[in-house]
Amino acid sequence: MQKYGLIALATLCSIASGPALAADPAATAPIPRSPGLPYAPRNLPDRIVLTPGADPSREMAVAFRTDTAQASAEAQIAVSVDGPTLEEKARIVTGTSRKVDSSYGPALYHQVRFTGLTPDTAYAYRVKGAAGWSEWHQFRTAAVEAKPFRFLYLGDVQNGILTYASRVIRQAFHGNGDIALVVHAGDLVAQRDDLDHDDEWGEWNQAGGYNYSIVPQVPATGNHEYVDVVQPDGTEVYNLGPYWPAQFALPANGAEPVKATTYYVDYQGVRFIVLDGTAAINLGSMEAQTRWLDQTLASSKANWNVVLFHQPVFTCARPNDTAEIKAAWKPVFDKRKVDLVLQGHDHCYSRLTAEAGREASAKARADGMIQGPVYLVSVTGSKMYALNDRSPWQPDKIAEATELYQIVDVEPKRIKFRTFTASGKLYDGFDLERTAAGNRLSEVGEPTLAERRCTGDVGPDGGVCVARAK
Ligand SMILES: [Fe+2]
Repeated sequence: MQKYGLIALATLCSIASGPALAADPAATAPIPRSPGLPYAPRNLPDRIVLTPGADPSREMAVAFRTDTAQASAEAQIAVSVDGPTLEEKARIVTGTSRKVDSSYGPALYHQVRFTGLTPDTAYAYRVKGAAGWSEWHQFRTAAVEAKPFRFLYLGDVQNGILTYASRVIRQAFHGNGDIALVVHAGDLVAQRDDLDHDDEWGEWNQAGGYNYSIVPQVPATGNHEYVDVVQPDGTEVYNLGPYWPAQFALPANGAEPVKATTYYVDYQGVRFIVLDGTAAINLGSMEAQTRWLDQTLASSKANWNVVLFHQPVFTCARPNDTAEIKAAWKPVFDKRKVDLVLQGHDHCYSRLTAEAGREASAKARADGMIQGPVYLVSVTGSKMYALNDRSPWQPDKIAEATELYQIVDVEPKRIKFRTFTASGKLYDGFDLERTAAGNRLSEVGEPTLAERRCTGDVGPDGGVCVARAK
């Protein structure tokens, strides 16, 4: 703590001492992180993350962490009342616990499922550590019918999770009330050598804070949720990191070989389908996932179908599209008339409505053609990639070196998709209207920021360009 205090004081001194505002080396020097501070498990619960059941009108689940003194997974839940008497009618629900060893020593991750809930109802729950209960957290079950709601879509949080991504996530919540769900398009953390992996998950939880305890989270895995492990014989294998299954109590309704990382959720008229691009490309489950995707779209009775995964069909940073995914999944999206495809991985922004490019897309709209799947790529954290050669003409709108979040308002016949920058400025937007013939896309009516990209070495904010070529 003393070190933070000194840096803050040094920064204040440099500002107060006159016009020389050159960066103070003390303010920019990396602060060493060491195990033991500040993310060790404690005798009270932390990392409390709410996730939806497959039917979130009747089921929610929570995962949380404690030290090993709290051996069992215990929660209390009650229909919310407005006085401080939640304990009176609360019922105890127990669940499962698993040990995860980290640089901080062993921790227990607990998961509890709340089933048999009443639709469209406010509930409060709390979870137990050895020293006592957490605060009461409040959530609302989904309505059974297709009632309008709002969700938040985040691209890769992955880097500068607390330093930079946290302000974006907090701006999203602060600037937009009533967010009912958060969807994450993979690479929530880096799980590489920049930071201790447990510290990264500590930062991820701190960045979202209590919002992740009261708003159900719908995460997709990225390649960075997998840990590259070198075997004794020198070969490398991709293993799903230990924090994913511990941290998220997800519906077990996915594709058979990858049930920990694929699933679907029906929420008030939208079917969210979550795929695992890494397992599909690198671990041999492409065929199984493609078959499951097709079946899950075929059985959907939702007004809208939204597919979420990491590696994008159309890339804004890399020279080539993700060939395996494009070949296997794009035909299914077309055939089954998917509405939105939400992706990450490229650390840039792209809204693509036609592979032939933005001009062709605008002409098709003017000619009365219906809109196929809209492909989005976005990024929340601090790592940025330079835009590729196709970006000036292929996507409808692009961004480089820009942290973003997306607010999506869903109604039975309309989706309003809005992209905001880190500081809350409207950057891009479109509406999809559902008609008997198919979707009609219209551009956002309000003014949006001009395209942000680097010019040579100069970034869109006038400083250094932080986007690097991929
Ligand atoms: Fe990433």
